[in-house]
Amino acid sequence: MSTRRIVLSRSAAIVGAAATGWLLPATAGAQSAKLRVGLMLPYTGTYAQLGVAVENGVRMAIDQQGGKLGGREIEWFKVDDESEPSKAVENASKLVQRDKVQVLIGTVHSGVQMGIQKVARETGVLSLIPNAGAHAATRALCAPNVFRTSFTNAQITLALGPAMVARGHKKAVWITWKYAAGEEAFEGFKQSYPAAGGSIIKELGLPFPNVEFQALLTEIAALQPDAVACFFAGGGAAKFIRDYAAAGLKDKIALYGSGFLTEGVLDAAGPAADGIITTMHYSDSLDTPRNKQFRMEYAKTFRSQPDVYAMQGYDTGLLLVHGANAVQGDMEAKPALYRALESAVIDSPRGRWTMSRAHNPVQDIYLRRVENMENKVIGVAAKAQADSGAGCRMG
Ligand code: PHB
Repeated sequence: MSTRRIVLSRSAAIVGAAATGWLLPATAGAQSAKLRVGLMLPYTGTYAQLGVAVENGVRMAIDQQGGKLGGREIEWFKVDDESEPSKAVENASKLVQRDKVQVLIGTVHSGVQMGIQKVARETGVLSLIPNAGAHAATRALCAPNVFRTSFTNAQITLALGPAMVARGHKKAVWITWKYAAGEEAFEGFKQSYPAAGGSIIKELGLPFPNVEFQALLTEIAALQPDAVACFFAGGGAAKFIRDYAAAGLKDKIALYGSGFLTEGVLDAAGPAADGIITTMHYSDSLDTPRNKQFRMEYAKTFRSQPDVYAMQGYDTGLLLVHGANAVQGDMEAKPALYRALESAVIDSPRGRWTMSRAHNPVQDIYLRRVENMENKVIGVAAKAQADSGAGCRMG
């Protein structure tokens, strides 16, 4: 937000308070208090880097708008959720009940997200999901106070099947971590690949966040498929890519994935990642002024390259700024706040996107290929792709 808009929204808040007459002191007090923002993200474990990238993105978006929300200063509260579902309700409750956050930003892991969703539905706290793709959050368990700025797990792999068949790879093995994100990513693949003419000859898995891939790679070599498709992310993804090459599979069996496979791991994976093809709602190499400006600013601020998680954090910050400005920082003005969030058009580094009725992004999905440690766009796999939102009864 420009300085001029900050001034305008502040004066709008003052006009609003004055109009309430005797309520003026209380209202003015509430609006001038700091806005309490909670970050519930993984800062340890295989998704630790993802949590840091999300937080960097959120802070960068808000700092670019003057570091305030609807004219209010921010007080931050942070919890490391460790990607541990069994602690999720307790961690989210700490932020909402003890710290009294007015917005909860989190998280990365789908299992943990279901704990946040429970707390969000019970307390009505504004919940912004900067990564986790758990279907239920914007399907059967959708809620007016929950908004996702990332994707659903199947939204990404729905575009993967046709891309593989178009390259002549008609016999595939699927492999993933056995938890919600991997299983739901498989749901999209299972729908799109056979529909395009491919056949899935085997489904393999191991528990999250296990990285003992050797026995499964031996099995893949014996099965001799045309291609392997997978969902892995974070530290585990870097190891899977390296182990796949070390097992001698890289130049024999084409490796595809939900794009998280190659996000934030290209330095760690090195040349072993070259040639991997994925689908994703972002690419480093998107040749737009918006993306270039974002990448330059991020690299300057954090001395590292942004990835999809940083971009999603950034968009979460943009969405929050938009909502808070629309209600001049009065986060209790819920109908107006939700209307603003629902109708937002986010001018994102990924390209412009809007919210579906179930509060999930409607967005383009790109086809990318790793070349020289970069995810290069090689096509658009799906235009304005929406999740089904199946079972969401809202609006
Ligand atoms: C998830 O658990 O939903 C998840 C985690 C990491 C990703 C993508 C999805 O990169």
